[in-house]
Amino acid sequence: MERIVEIEKFTSDEIIENSLRPNGWGDYIGQEQIKKNLGVFIEASKKRLEQLDHVLFYGPPGLGKTTLALIIANEMHTNIKVTAAPMIEKSGDLAAILTNLDEGDILFIDEIHRLSPAVEEILYPAMEDFRLDIIIGSGPAAQSVKIDLPKFTLIGATTRAGMLSNPLRDRFGMNFRMQFYTSAELSHIVTKASEKLNKPIHHEAAHEVAKRSRGTPRIALRLLKRVRDFADVSNEADINLQRTQYALNELGINDNGFDEMDLRLLELLVHAKGRAMGLSTIAAALSEDEGTIEDVLEPFLLANGFIERTAKGRIATPKAYELLKFSYPTETPRLF
Ligand SMILES: Nc1ncnc2c1ncn2[C@@H]1O[C@H](COP(=O)(O)OP(=O)(O)O)[C@@H](O)[C@H]1O
Ligand SMILES: [Mg+2]
Repeated sequence: MERIVEIEKFTSDEIIENSLRPNGWGDYIGQEQIKKNLGVFIEASKKRLEQLDHVLFYGPPGLGKTTLALIIANEMHTNIKVTAAPMIEKSGDLAAILTNLDEGDILFIDEIHRLSPAVEEILYPAMEDFRLDIIIGSGPAAQSVKIDLPKFTLIGATTRAGMLSNPLRDRFGMNFRMQFYTSAELSHIVTKASEKLNKPIHHEAAHEVAKRSRGTPRIALRLLKRVRDFADVSNEADINLQRTQYALNELGINDNGFDEMDLRLLELLVHAKGRAMGLSTIAAALSEDEGTIEDVLEPFLLANGFIERTAKGRIATPKAYELLKFSYPTETPRLF
């Protein structure tokens, strides 16, 4: 069977990203628990000659959700159709995608929390009974039509599991939460990628890139590419620590693993001197939308214990005060 991978991505960075994408478990570093479990479920479904149950991946961007979907397709030897919720505007759009699937195909829907309720309605019976329930016409002449669909696997990815409706979430047989990567794992990913790029990176240099990548492979690979540019321009055959540090400093990447936005958020909270700050206040102060703060900014800071979420809002932890060299307020001026 000819495998089809349809990806609608075009920027040159994304093409490189795709070329660095692992195509099997061997290249997929970290996320050990997910790999172990998925491996079992994939093997079981192959043994039974059945399609894999529907899978949901959730977690911040760049941690390897799309890659996992592609690896699953590879392992199952099936076609995968890749789309994203914002591209499925009407229920008819989804009906067209579903009726075009073949038996055993994988349908990958990125940003699945953004499906409209009308589109979700179509998805429920499709996921549960492999059936399309559509209404044709309107008013008294309206007719409900049921069409059988091929048995397929839906893989959904989202940065916000909390925004998924319960009925949708319940229809996934498996859901996996992506973890941030350790420096050692990122270092491994960077080293492998540098081999693929034919530009070997020294061990300490790979570690330096890893340390500054916010636990995120996509960031690590992006930094690697920029560091490689510096090495190329300096006519160096491989990437050493000195060139890496120089390049990262030139790029304004902090050496504590945080980016500019992280530090601005931490500063904001530290200046609140122990008072909790609401999401909308933070968004206004940083001129950033609330979704980005919740999906991209906060998870890393929460996972590393620099901020906490309370009922009243976000607060900086003693660790954050220490990082920014501020003394921790001994008496927290809580207003209520
Ligand atoms: N565990 C991993 N091992 C190696 N490379 C990875 C891993 N996870 C992600 N990557 C790489 O990082 C980039 C972003 O991954 P992607 O799957 O697109 O993230 P997401 O879909 O979660 O935003 C891709 O180039 C991918 O190859
Ligand atoms: Mg993705």
